[in-house]
Amino acid sequence: MNPDLSKLQPYPFEKLAQLKAAVTPPAGLPHIALSIGEPQHPSPAFVQQAMIDNISRLENYPTTKGLPELSSTIANWLQRRFTLETIDPVTQVIPVNGTREAIFAFTQAAVDRSQPDALVVSPNPFYQIYEGAAYLAGATPYFLPCLAANNFHPDYKAVPADVWERCQLLFLCSPGNPTGAVLSFEQFAELIELADRHNFILASDECYSEIYVDGKEAPMGLLEACARMGRHDYKNCVVFHSLSKRSNLPGLRSGFIAGDAALLKPFLLYRTYHGCAMPLQTQLASIAAWNDEQHVAENRDLYTQKFRAVLDILSPVLPVQQTDASFYLWVETPINEETFAQQLFAQQNVTVLPGSYLSRTVNDINPGKNRVRMALVAGVDECIEAAQRIRAFVESL
Ligand SMILES: Cc1ncc(COP(=O)(O)O)c(C=O)c1O
Repeated sequence: MNPDLSKLQPYPFEKLAQLKAAVTPPAGLPHIALSIGEPQHPSPAFVQQAMIDNISRLENYPTTKGLPELSSTIANWLQRRFTLETIDPVTQVIPVNGTREAIFAFTQAAVDRSQPDALVVSPNPFYQIYEGAAYLAGATPYFLPCLAANNFHPDYKAVPADVWERCQLLFLCSPGNPTGAVLSFEQFAELIELADRHNFILASDECYSEIYVDGKEAPMGLLEACARMGRHDYKNCVVFHSLSKRSNLPGLRSGFIAGDAALLKPFLLYRTYHGCAMPLQTQLASIAAWNDEQHVAENRDLYTQKFRAVLDILSPVLPVQQTDASFYLWVETPINEETFAQQLFAQQNVTVLPGSYLSRTVNDINPGKNRVRMALVAGVDECIEAAQRIRAFVESL
């Protein structure tokens, strides 16, 4: 088997299961999970109906490129949401079976294995697929710490020029998982300029772009930054978007990649061999979801309510702050993060994720140390209940 498989780390939730197995939570308290980033809000009934209405399409093979109606729906959504002057649904959009699959597959197609010292540069903490995708593509991940001192963004200016020279792919995650940090136009513009100068690809994972606090400005995206700079070919740039968080459809497995046609053309070729065409009933249900914004606004409203209530309860006992976007709180803990998560589970039957399960130690710095990630994915009442139990736990320390 491929020896690079041995470089893959256990997934954070495997580590978490082991941590929790050592203790027993109180039987009288129902379990509340703030650990997995799986939205618990109901998925839209009209999307479910579109699946049912189109179930007979199981009879047809889908194409890798997908239905022209799906690509044009996505292009229209991108144009509206990110005020793009132009985006070509034929050459600049490909539907994908969720961004996890696409991030992994794109990395395989993008890395030039003839360069033995190829780097894939990633934020730290990070979504673990970036790391595994880099290893299996024959590259080495290079992690940039995202620390509170720099508003949880990597300090790109501190990266040595030889790293940029070896970099083939730079992952951005905005809004960030787990920090919620959002890149500004100025930051995107600097990175686009850097990618031009050193000839690497910018891959912007934007699957949380629609989860932001009501009344705040919608997060900017990489294509939007390109458009503002007059770069309508999106040279060197791709973005990943998903219906999982936006529309509470993690089980639909539907998203897209969009951007530079010169990158998407070979990626489409890769995908035809990879065999990952989206089923037709999924495509038709996705069209319904991308065309509706009302359910997305309602979703945001629920997250806004949860953030307000949870921050009110926790802020007297923990240094919690509203993040720019996403549904996560990235909370500094008064004790070691693993002990915090384990004892919180043991005493209050609430699960949170130790920050260090989402990060790596580089130069003795681990940005996930003494932090936990809380995903406000449960219902409003359950999140409030969880916050009260976390507060009681912290007060007991
Ligand atoms: C940062 C980030 N990217 C990508 C994904 C994958 O989402 P999906 O494959 O459901 O689109 C997730 C899911 O949790 C995530 O947190």
